[in-house]
Amino acid sequence: MAEKPSRTRPLLVGNWKMNGLRASEAEVSALAKGLDGARADIWLCPPITLLSHFIGAFKGKPLSWGAQDCHAQESGAHTGDVSAEMLADVGAVSVIVGHSERRRDHAETNAMVRSKLSAVQRAGMVAIVCIGETLEERERGDVLPVLEKQLRESLPEEVDGSKTVLAYEPVWAIGTGKVPSGDEIVEVHGFLRERLDACGAAGVPILYGGSLGPSNADWLLRLDNVDGGLIGTASLKASSFLEVIRACQQG
Ligand code: 13P
Repeated sequence: MAEKPSRTRPLLVGNWKMNGLRASEAEVSALAKGLDGARADIWLCPPITLLSHFIGAFKGKPLSWGAQDCHAQESGAHTGDVSAEMLADVGAVSVIVGHSERRRDHAETNAMVRSKLSAVQRAGMVAIVCIGETLEERERGDVLPVLEKQLRESLPEEVDGSKTVLAYEPVWAIGTGKVPSGDEIVEVHGFLRERLDACGAAGVPILYGGSLGPSNADWLLRLDNVDGGLIGTASLKASSFLEVIRACQQG
């Protein structure tokens, strides 16, 4: 299973957020069983309490593992935090940074996201950087300027394409069952692709996230410049995640 981002095969990342107990191992077993012949790379980001155990329990399965956040520093007096080095130490290969829920719940700024990204890459892992506009910003007609600013301020000047994945997650689409139209996604992903190309990061996959699931994976994952998905709710159950994965099989 590829542990480095590539644009030649779809990348589907399951973000479990603050969900999952030890009993959830059964879902991962069912998922792993259904992955034979999958035409996508599958990365799973369970809560930190399960990460190390799952990595051990599913060794050799076609799954790679990630975390949902990390601290920017390597170690030190930061009660409750976890460093990128600690995550790499237990076998994680990626870390989500700048998810809108962390920007909202923990007031994370673009500058903080950028330092976390550096920490993830310093530890040899892939940073999955999330950007996305709120409903208010969309209604003001500010989608592209908002994304441009988040991108410029969250990414370093020189983007390491082998250690970066970008995820476009419109905040209003997360967990709501609403998704932008195909044309809107193509416009945004085309814009992001151009920006990445301009800073020499042509190889960075751009994922779409926000209510991506079995009912829409089929068309969403086929859109231009959509290199895969960042999936919340639908990744919690093996059955729905496998349906999304199968959508990459068709056509
Ligand atoms: P949902 O798939 O539940 O909308 O969540 C998307 C998301 O935030 C993934 O990071």
